[in-house]
Parts: sequence; C-alpha cells; structure tokens
Amino acid sequence: MSAISNRLESRAVFLRGLIQSAGELVMQGFGASRQIEIKGPQDYLTETDALCEAFIRQQLAAEYPEDAFFGEETGGHSGDNIWVVDPIDGTANFARNIPHFCISIAFVSQGRTEIGAIYNPSLEEMYFARRGMGATLNDRPIQAAQTSVPEVASIEFGWSARVPNISYMRVLDALLDAGFNARRAGSGALGLAYVADGRSDGYAEIHMNSWDCLAGLLLVEEAGGRVCPFLELGTIETGGPVLASAPRIAAVLSCATGIALAESEDRCEDEGRAEVQQAG
Ligand code: IPD
Ligand code: CA
Repeated sequence: MSAISNRLESRAVFLRGLIQSAGELVMQGFGASRQIEIKGPQDYLTETDALCEAFIRQQLAAEYPEDAFFGEETGGHSGDNIWVVDPIDGTANFARNIPHFCISIAFVSQGRTEIGAIYNPSLEEMYFARRGMGATLNDRPIQAAQTSVPEVASIEFGWSARVPNISYMRVLDALLDAGFNARRAGSGALGLAYVADGRSDGYAEIHMNSWDCLAGLLLVEEAGGRVCPFLELGTIETGGPVLASAPRIAAVLSCATGIALAESEDRCEDEGRAEVQQAG
C-alpha cells in the first residue's frame, strides 16, 4: 500500500469511529430542553451544535495535528489536507425534535474530496464513501436511482436566507414546469445522501456551504450519480451552487436549475433555463 493510500485508509477508519461517537453526543441533546440561539434569519444554533463541533475538532487535532480543519460553527484555516465539518446539519429540525438531521464530515486532500461520511444518529444510518471505492449505507453498497423522466422524479430543492427569494422562486418555477416534484426537508447533507441511495432523484441548492455538501457530493459521485464541479470553483470558504442527480435526469435538472454539471457537454435550450443568481 502506498503512503497516500495508507494515509487515507487510516483517516477513513478513524472517521467511522469519530462520527459514531459524535452521533451519541448529539443524541444526548435530542429531545432535551435546550438553549437555542438565532445566528441570522432562519439560521439556528443549539448548544449541541457547539459541543459536537468542539468534540470533533479536538479529536481530529489530537489524532492528526498536521491536518487543517474548517467547521460550520468555529471556522478554521485552509490547508492541502483539510477536514470540513458540519456538526449538525438540519439544526432547525433538530431544534424542533424532528429526526431528520445528521453530522457531515469530509476529508479533502489537494483540492479533492477523498472521504465523506454522513450519519443520522436518530435512525442509525451511516453513509460512507471513499473516492474510487463506492458508497455505502450501513456498510451496504448504494446506487443512485435510474429514474429517466422528470414527470416521475422527486427531487429536493434546498433553501436558505442567503439567496434572494426571487432567485429561489424562479428556479422552483422552472423545476415545476419541467415536471419535477420539488420537496424541501431541511437537511441538505441528508438530501444529498438520499440521492446517493436512490430515495431521491436529485438535490439542488443555489448556494450551499462546503460543510453542508462535500461529503454528500462524494457519496453521489461514488453511487453513480452526477454532480456539479463544486470544489473546482474554489468554494471551501465561500460555498457555491450545488447540484447532484440520478444520472438519467441530470441534464434536464441542470437546465432547469441553471447549475452546471462536471464534465458536461449537455446543452440547454435557452428558454426554460433558470438563471442562477448567486448569493452575496
Ligand atoms: C442548512 C440545511 C438546509 C440547507 C441550508 C443549510 P443547517 O444547514 O442544510 O437544508 O438548505 O443551505 O444552511 O443550518 O441546518 O446546518
Ligand atoms: Ca449545515
């Protein structure tokens, strides 16, 4: 085994244990009375988010002091080898006792996501992917759906107050016009994981942060889905548009959302293509 694959294997094994322990910590706060702060419009923070990120950060620093860290609650610094962490994705659900939330952790090396893990501790569902080695749910291989027409496709279209309402409404209109059923369940990371295991046919969001989407995008790629070139746009710190799709409807979903796919030569007829206006 080469030094690089050794390095990745060690981190993958460590990550499985770490995210499981973080899940136990999060479950101690689930359903309990808790303090909730509001970071911005529709942007919640519970004490468990902070505790969980501190736990993950401290464990990673002790095991891999040479690696960089970037987390939703405490930020961090970039580096060639970096852990990108969302301690609770779907905090609004968590805060209201809805069991649709998760921990999402990605390991990015030289600008490429190499390992991704998403864990929903309330359902004990652990999604895991390593680049080139496939994606699993609780150790069973998963595959994106083979849905081929929008009229029977259900996708999730994520929303945040970071994007102007009018931009969201335009893309939603284009999605509905194209025939998709568009849902929103409040955890972008789980929304992406559900594309990887075929529960959902696609996930789109006009602006997402890297901690919400890197693990999920790797899961979808490794499960045979198609994704946008998120990291190629240099978006670890800034975030950017996100698209992940079952392979056979990816081109039409890309046209409806206006979000490009990686390595794509697909062309859209101009009419019907929504214009993505970035946040900021
Ligand atoms: C949010 C959720 C939501 C997505 C937003 C995220 P949070 O993260 O993933 O589904 O649409 O873009 O900010 O606040 O629950 O960690
Ligand atoms: Ca999040």
